Amino acid sequence: MSQESEASSKYLLRLRNAAQVVMVCSNKERVLRGTEMQTVAVLDSDSSRGLSVAVDMEGVIAAIGFDDEIDVLLARSAVDREIDATGMSVVPGLVDAHTHPVWVGDRVHEFAMKLSGATYMDVHAMGGGIHFTVNQVHQATFEQLYDSLAHRLTLMLQGGTTLVEAKSGYGLNLDNEAKMLRVIERAREEHSISVSTTYCGAHAVPKGGTAAEAAQNVIDVQIPALRDLCSSGSLHIDNIDVFCEKGVFDTDTSRRILKAGKEAGWNINFHGDELNPMNSGELAADLGACAVSHLERVSSAGIEAMAAAEVVGVLLPTTAYILRLNPPPARKMMDAGMAIALGSDFNPNAYCMSMPMVMHLACVHMHMTMPEALIASTLNAAASLGLSDRFGSIEIGKQADMLLLNAPKWEHLIYQFGCQRDVIKHVIKGGKVLHTN
Ligand code: NIG
Ligand code: FE
Repeated sequence: MSQESEASSKYLLRLRNAAQVVMVCSNKERVLRGTEMQTVAVLDSDSSRGLSVAVDMEGVIAAIGFDDEIDVLLARSAVDREIDATGMSVVPGLVDAHTHPVWVGDRVHEFAMKLSGATYMDVHAMGGGIHFTVNQVHQATFEQLYDSLAHRLTLMLQGGTTLVEAKSGYGLNLDNEAKMLRVIERAREEHSISVSTTYCGAHAVPKGGTAAEAAQNVIDVQIPALRDLCSSGSLHIDNIDVFCEKGVFDTDTSRRILKAGKEAGWNINFHGDELNPMNSGELAADLGACAVSHLERVSSAGIEAMAAAEVVGVLLPTTAYILRLNPPPARKMMDAGMAIALGSDFNPNAYCMSMPMVMHLACVHMHMTMPEALIASTLNAAASLGLSDRFGSIEIGKQADMLLLNAPKWEHLIYQFGCQRDVIKHVIKGGKVLHTN
């Protein structure tokens, strides 16, 4: 049963005697859709033989199999570090498909308002919400923003996230959007977590302006300037986002912005159908989007269109929970054959960065099974970012991003709600142990 690449003389890491290795998939699938999400590929130890994973010097998974098989493969090789994984299970590093992690200034006062009955849009219309954070970000220095981002990324990594999507969107003008994107760029260079960068200049309409003016600024000013910064190599942008919502950017305006971003070379990955039905699913399919997030109010036609066009639905259980929204119809989407991913949506409105908690909420509130939630937080989340060729499963040739769990069965990662520090023993990124609880 062993899977191995050609034997080499030196390895960075070997895990030995694990009880379970959750590969997620074993045929290099790039995404799992609909009923394919019902089963994760798991290797189980037997009574006499544990399981091993070997990582090459590039931090890539080189071999997976029973201990004795890997003993033979590594017989004449040096191994930098060996970890005894007795009684433990191994899962891929988690992928958080949707976050807003660059900001200062909390919104705890708004949480109190919402608990007393104010809706998200009530707070927004009063000049709070995104507008509040935009003010804070405008006043913040690059260093202040970077320090808070770096701290959050470290906490995410400690919670098992090894690849995260990170949005701009609290700048709303070229200078401040570029500032946020440069902050994310520095994290890409200096932080050990992997980052996919999303430009979200159309996250809200700046105060005092109209949506049409904001869209024109995004299309005629911000996107061309940011594209030039990308061409010169000083920035990397992977995805374009817009908040397609009643009272923010309508469907036609969103279409124009997303098309301009696609022409700049970025993947379409946007907020849609959250508070009101906006035909975002239909729009995503039409534009060849990689992914749409939220989808609480998606239409049946939108689901069919996304399934046919292979658009990943990114669901955000914490937002629906905090805002007391009806959760998105996850089961209906999977029944229609859609691929579902999960994200924390970490932002000042929804302050949760824990993907194990997100998976738990997805199971309880959205009626997903544990295998579906794990696939949605690994392979499919990576697919929503166009990165599932390198991330999201424990397979030969993939980045060795893995979590060692203090439990012989992987489901404990979801079952033990709020106990991730106890469940996750080691966080391994590129074959290096970056965090141990
Ligand atoms: O995904 N809905 C729009 N954007 C974020 C919230 C951002 C904020 O409130 O600061 C979301 O929930
Ligand atoms: Fe969001």
